[in-house]
Amino acid sequence: MVAMVEEINKVGVVGLGTMGAGIVEVFARAGFTVTGVEIDDAALERGRTHLEKSLAKAVAKGKLTEDEQRAILGRVTFTTSRDDLADAHLAVEAVPERLDIKRSVFADLDRILPPAAILATNTSSLSVTEIAALTSRPGKVIGLHFFNPAPVMRLVEIVTTVVTEPHVRETATQVVTRLGKTPVAVGDRAGFVANALLVPYLNHAVAVYEQGLATREQIDAAITSAAGFPMGPLTLMDLVGLDVLLDVMDVLWDEFRRPRYAAAPLLRRMVAAGLLGRKSGRGFYDYSGADNPAEP
Ligand code: 3HC
Repeated sequence: MVAMVEEINKVGVVGLGTMGAGIVEVFARAGFTVTGVEIDDAALERGRTHLEKSLAKAVAKGKLTEDEQRAILGRVTFTTSRDDLADAHLAVEAVPERLDIKRSVFADLDRILPPAAILATNTSSLSVTEIAALTSRPGKVIGLHFFNPAPVMRLVEIVTTVVTEPHVRETATQVVTRLGKTPVAVGDRAGFVANALLVPYLNHAVAVYEQGLATREQIDAAITSAAGFPMGPLTLMDLVGLDVLLDVMDVLWDEFRRPRYAAAPLLRRMVAAGLLGRKSGRGFYDYSGADNPAEP
């Protein structure tokens, strides 16, 4: 008999960077009990601060009452021990995009969570099938791909593999609906759907910038004012992280080998130089407050 979770109420989120902390907020706001897990106390504090600041901002704007803020924070616990997920119904992994790190996380989740629990990954560049194969329950591994900023963006891609059990896909879809998000079912292909469309467009903006066809401000303004996007491509790249985007470009290239999936040389150089966007203080724009920083 296939073991199934009756109802998802207790959720673990492993990795509390920008995406993980945002995912904790999304689940806690929707009434789930959430355990946020990080590797050490410093990373845990960064995740906690991220959540607290985001909620405080919502209160200051009058979007959330202080009682709601207290209730949301009361549903979240933080820990550095993955063992604390022993009674979770669902774990969402949002650690860095390296298979060696995912391997250790999924080995632990597989060992610690009950056999019926669902293990989800927020990966944007690794194969969900390969991650599923790291566990003894590949049918219960699924992709839940959130977009940045997770509390704001409505889409969540539900990535199934050839071995995902149907009830796991159904449960994941119900959970995403309970989060107030829009679930879209996609297959396990490089870039899934949204990034396969979005990331080559962003990469093309880098090529346009690199060729000197326009300034960074002109490129961004062209898209915000002509196409009505909320952010220009270079500003969006700084938000998402150039390293994340390069990873997606490289998997698209590896899988399809088409010229449109070749990463712009400047993108690769910027990542090598540590110009990753907001999170590193500098990408296409400078966020460090330095005087007259050079353009990349
Ligand atoms: N956390 C929580 N809420 C946030 C937030 C964050 N990090 N950033 C913005 N918000 C909220 C604000 O509080 C505000 O809420 P309100 O309407 O209730 O007051 C609302 O979002 C709008 O924010 P702002 O007024 O500060 O600024 P903008 O109107 O410029 O919106 C934005 C900011 C929502 C980021 C908007 O510019 C946007 O939608 N940008 C495009 C983002 C995008 O395309 N994301 C997808 C990236 S691809 C990806 O993530 C996939 C990955 O795999 C690579």
